[in-house]
Amino acid sequence: MNIHNNSLSHDESEPTGLSFFIDREPPQDDFLNDVIEGISQPEKSLSPKYFYDQRGSALFDQICALEEYYPTRTELALLNSIGPELSEYAGAESRVIEYGSGSSVKIKILLDALTRPAEYIAIDISRDHLLRAATFIARQYPHIQVGAICADFTDAALLSSRPVPSQEDESAPERLLGFFPGSTIGNFDPEAAQVFLRNTRRQLGPNGQLLIGVDMKKDTATLTRAYNDAQGITAAFNKNILTRMKKELGADIDSDAFEHYAFYNETLGRIEMHLKSIRDQSIFVGENEFVFAEGETLHTENSYKYSIAEFTGMTASMGWRRKAVWTDTQDLFSIYLLETIS
Ligand code: AVJ
Repeated sequence: MNIHNNSLSHDESEPTGLSFFIDREPPQDDFLNDVIEGISQPEKSLSPKYFYDQRGSALFDQICALEEYYPTRTELALLNSIGPELSEYAGAESRVIEYGSGSSVKIKILLDALTRPAEYIAIDISRDHLLRAATFIARQYPHIQVGAICADFTDAALLSSRPVPSQEDESAPERLLGFFPGSTIGNFDPEAAQVFLRNTRRQLGPNGQLLIGVDMKKDTATLTRAYNDAQGITAAFNKNILTRMKKELGADIDSDAFEHYAFYNETLGRIEMHLKSIRDQSIFVGENEFVFAEGETLHTENSYKYSIAEFTGMTASMGWRRKAVWTDTQDLFSIYLLETIS
């Protein structure tokens, strides 16, 4: 946290074209501490957020273009095809809040589909990425107010510091539309997913709506293939965590002695990614030695998959009613429009 927290900059002072910028940038990740804590557990694990340094983000972009990895292209095609229906359901003049300003491609499809969207608010933990993405949208959509909030989007108080927006009709209730594409919610375990749904329900208010992309349960072969591509891009993405540990923490690790291991855990309804030790070995992080037995793994990611019934039930328990759900013809991916239960 720094003294610039909660400071606002307005049009006059910002050359970016943003109507506001709120800086609640979370403290820097403590990679060293998280690594030591994670691999000291009886079941060694590490947060998937550590995949995404520059190289990891580039590898993720490559994953999204793989033939085996169906989610990205399926969600994009779906978003493109539901435009007219979506604009009807979502209504006019909504204020769109994107949780994690990812690719500008998806937000553009949404803004183009909606009827006279009034505002776009981007939220992201990476300040540089956030400002670049929000400024780009502000330039492309001069008629839309664009604001940016640098914060962890699981922060429940997130929107309370937002300046009260100017509205044509002051008496009209504000209509906020959350946008959370990419099945990012699949990275959360079900308890954390529920917390996210409860927080957004509160943030988005009595007229709130949430448009969310969710990867679906399906045959194990299709799921497994998507995380075990023939070119080994997903393996490189997974092993990039070891590269980061060596580079950033000076860890002593023989990366070749770990292999990418991804499978579908049917009981828990999730893809699990691990780095599996191919022999008995030790790795060293600072002063600490960590012992891996042959076959022991470092668990790096979960990616939960939901049937329509499961996800609808989970959202309902957190105060959301399903207004619409769209899937592709093969039932690979789903997009939900949720509204507040009043
Ligand atoms: C960005 C979390 C949705 O779980 O499919 C892709 C990340 N990991 N391949 C997913 C990922 C391996 C992706 N999410």
